[in-house]
Amino acid sequence: MKKHIILGIDVGGTGIKGGLVNVKTGAMETERFRFATPSPATPAAVAATVQQLVDQLDYHGPVGVGFPAIVRRGVAGSAANIDDSWVGTDITKVLGEQTGLNFFALNDADAAGIATMEFGTGRPFRKEGVVLMVTIGTGLGGALFVDGELMPNLEIGQIYLKNQKVVAEKFISNRIRKDTNMSWSEFGRKFNKYLKHVDAVLNPDLIILGGGAAKYFDEYKKHLKTNATVKPALLENAAGTVGAAVYAYRRNQKTGK
Ligand code: BGC
Repeated sequence: MKKHIILGIDVGGTGIKGGLVNVKTGAMETERFRFATPSPATPAAVAATVQQLVDQLDYHGPVGVGFPAIVRRGVAGSAANIDDSWVGTDITKVLGEQTGLNFFALNDADAAGIATMEFGTGRPFRKEGVVLMVTIGTGLGGALFVDGELMPNLEIGQIYLKNQKVVAEKFISNRIRKDTNMSWSEFGRKFNKYLKHVDAVLNPDLIILGGGAAKYFDEYKKHLKTNATVKPALLENAAGTVGAAVYAYRRNQKTGK
């Protein structure tokens, strides 16, 4: 198999998605296969699902995997919408032992951000500038890039807004919008409260919105009043998969494993 065709996997609370990615162009070489996330999503159960994906693709190279968690040198430091037993677990070890392949793990929003910076809306800032990516899905994920370098594990959904008793991602997210049947203008007003605060603290040049709510950007953009320019991500569905593959390719080249 060609060295720049890499398996990228995106582990989420409801689906585990993956496929082969051309890391030079950002294009999918295969379809993105989707398996339901096992419940409970324990390390052993997720590893078995990842094995199915690897088998389906008959893949043998390095693998990148995005996780809804803080990921430090392969180890999960939190667990959002997956089983708590992931906390403290070495993701790369569990998946590596299961499949016999070399795994590289990172936070899911970091993976989406990498794809967006390399092939999407962030590309003009890939050499210079500060870009904040916010993924709006079940929770709120974040990725911060300074002159193209990622500052990993920015848990931007876990901050508290003024007069709020819950963290930001419990105040507004795409899940909350759906669960409460919120109109897009109400979503826009609430999300603006959040985004204005984040903008005032981090002062990026550009804010890119990803995740499920990104494709409806036109419905709520007029409510967003930040200093930074706000744009939607283009690759929203495949971004996590593509970014995970790019990460694995880069890390694999660096470590030479
Ligand atoms: C988690 C982040 C994750 C985001 C998107 C949040 O609940 O804290 O680690 O990136 O959800 O899945």
